[in-house]
Amino acid sequence: MAFTLEDLPIRDDLRGQSPYGAPQKHVRVQLNVNENTHPVPAEVADDIVESIRQALATVNRYPDREFSELRRSLTDYLNGGLEGPALLTPEQLWAANGSNEVLQQLLQAFGGPGRSVLGFPPTYSMHSILASGTGTRWIPAERDAEFGISPETVAAAIAEHQPDIVFLCGPNNPTGTPLPIETIAAAYDATDGIVMVDEAYAEFMPDDAPSALTLLPGRERLVVSRTMSKAFAFAGARVGYLAAHPAVIDAIRLVRLPYHLSALTQAAAVAALRHAPAMLAMVDDIKQQRDRMITELQDMGYRTYESWSNFVLFGGVADPHAAFEALLDEDVIVRDLGIPNHLRVSAGTAEETTAFLDAMRRVAAVQPPVRVDA
Ligand SMILES: Cc1ncc(COP(=O)(O)O)c(C=O)c1O
Repeated sequence: MAFTLEDLPIRDDLRGQSPYGAPQKHVRVQLNVNENTHPVPAEVADDIVESIRQALATVNRYPDREFSELRRSLTDYLNGGLEGPALLTPEQLWAANGSNEVLQQLLQAFGGPGRSVLGFPPTYSMHSILASGTGTRWIPAERDAEFGISPETVAAAIAEHQPDIVFLCGPNNPTGTPLPIETIAAAYDATDGIVMVDEAYAEFMPDDAPSALTLLPGRERLVVSRTMSKAFAFAGARVGYLAAHPAVIDAIRLVRLPYHLSALTQAAAVAALRHAPAMLAMVDDIKQQRDRMITELQDMGYRTYESWSNFVLFGGVADPHAAFEALLDEDVIVRDLGIPNHLRVSAGTAEETTAFLDAMRRVAAVQPPVRVDA
């Protein structure tokens, strides 16, 4: 018999687990992992390459452990979308290799054995996996109808479970559901622990919708995480960040690996942020394609949900696995998350969206949409 990881003296709590990861298939229309399907504009790519070239001149040295220039750039970017007292300072910013690493560092600092984190499934599946990897107990709580979380619901769950950390996701992945600002404030008031709001999809919210960042003043235990992977079309560069009180950043410094952000990553991210408007130029188009998906899926008879993100969850799929495979046969990949009768699809370019919708019409002809209640 072949030697497997089960034969190793691995941690008991990791036995039998599977690594996270959507299939990475080479398909023409890839709409399965909520990426921005638009490439980085060529002139921005040139500037990024030039910045990396310059950084290479000193790559024999360790990088700036505090990534000061990147923190200043991220601060300017966030402040550009904020007003008045919510203005942030670089001391409130922290970055890592994707927001996944930011969240892991947060759990390393504030979670761990003997501690717990409360979340509201269905939500981003890495939240519970990161909890498990850091030995933090994951407590799943119930959402309201239509996947919402009211201030009362969040306060009741916190009162019942007394978690050390609360993870909220707004807009929520995989449902796209908005997270009311009142719910975040109610969560904060209901706990003495850390409240972390994962805003990976913030740039896809309506322009007048307030971010959790506006709640930061006076809330020292509130943390807001963001990423350059989605709206910024920078998933392959791996840059995520958070904003919080400087004391939270001090706590994360205790667990981060020294020099965790490479000089090349820092240079690339700073250059990309110099071109924020060009990098974000496609956001409005993506939002339009998302809304088009919702309308046309509804017309086909599927059940859709309000989405403030760059993807759409839709229900009424008689056999999600068969539908997934049928789409794959047409060179379109979506996500089957194991939610009965549902699939999730990321908004693509106009052409990709058309290809998905046309393929979906053919799927609907073979397996007509069924009724679902949520
Ligand atoms: C809600 C949410 N948070 C965080 C992430 C991770 O993003 P990153 O690429 O910054 O690690 C994702 C990725 O899909 C996500 O959906």
